[in-house]
Amino acid sequence: MFARRIRRLTARLRRRVTGIAASPFASPAAAACADTLRQAFAVYRTDRLVGIEAGAFAHAIQSRLDVVDPGAEGYRSEDLEQQRDFSVKFRWGHDHDFGAFAVAGEMGDRHVELMANFMALFGLSSEHFRGKDVLDVGCWTGGTTLLLAALGANVVAVEEVRKYASTTQFLATSFGLAGRVEVRPLSIYSCNTTAFRTRFDSVYFPGVVYHLSDPLIALRILYNALRVGGDILVESAGIDLEAPYCRFDGSRIVHKGTREALNRAGWNWFMPSPSALARMMQEAGFTDVQSLWHGPAGRVFAYGRKTSPVAICRAGLSVPDIP
Ligand SMILES: C[S@@+](CC[C@H](N)C(=O)[O-])C[C@H]1O[C@@H](n2cnc3c(N)ncnc32)[C@H](O)[C@@H]1O
Repeated sequence: MFARRIRRLTARLRRRVTGIAASPFASPAAAACADTLRQAFAVYRTDRLVGIEAGAFAHAIQSRLDVVDPGAEGYRSEDLEQQRDFSVKFRWGHDHDFGAFAVAGEMGDRHVELMANFMALFGLSSEHFRGKDVLDVGCWTGGTTLLLAALGANVVAVEEVRKYASTTQFLATSFGLAGRVEVRPLSIYSCNTTAFRTRFDSVYFPGVVYHLSDPLIALRILYNALRVGGDILVESAGIDLEAPYCRFDGSRIVHKGTREALNRAGWNWFMPSPSALARMMQEAGFTDVQSLWHGPAGRVFAYGRKTSPVAICRAGLSVPDIP
């Protein structure tokens, strides 16, 4: 606890004195890898569009930004107070320079930083996804999906917010990826079907597990989605503790702004420590689990594999008949 406070204070002081935030990368190798990934992502520019003219493409993107449309997600106006602003108002996810225009994402360069950190922390190469069937869970406006496709993956992306799923599909189609990228407007919990079982070589699962009310069931669904030999890459907000603890936040916490401004950030449910996430992954069936706190990013990064089909403990499951 004390060491963590010192680390935070040092980072804050460093920012004040130098104006430079600590690098989000796990190592110089990760930063170098990020440069390669940025180049791979740079194929998604307006001069590479397929079947759509640059002006129409730009209009289709720009006309979505900041639109407030709760009805699109099926919300009733009387329930709006209870819904997250992210689903009510369209917010772009990751930075994207389309060439003719650019869109700043709320998560900046995160799609690139994430992938570079996964590769550095778990010793994966940039060829890791090439030719593989990959499930991208919670794709937002498609930064991670497009990056996976640029790395040679065949991607199925799922996203519970319909406007983001349709945007990701629009991007994939506009860049001629319709045969390699399929986007489904689905919650992860709706992937507990035979259509998703043993279909994937890899599951890409960053930035979502702490948004889930039932992380263990979600992890089991993803375990079931993998073929034997497959792997999962998980990243999460969390708590920097050795013990296997989760902090419960829930939907009533407003971290910033006001409810009136629909600026609710309190839709995080369980915030795991690295060892808590590792235990959840093991309960879901994963082996060779590695889970660690990546200080500069202030997040948990984890990796696991499906080495054989194993049963789940059936006591108290919220979905009793889950395979
Ligand atoms: C913080 S964003 C992370 C986006 C991207 N995966 C990344 O790591 O940068 C979380 C995304 O997961 C989606 N999401 C949250 N709960 C979900 C669920 N139950 N099923 C599918 N998507 C979900 C959100 O709508 C949002 O687009």
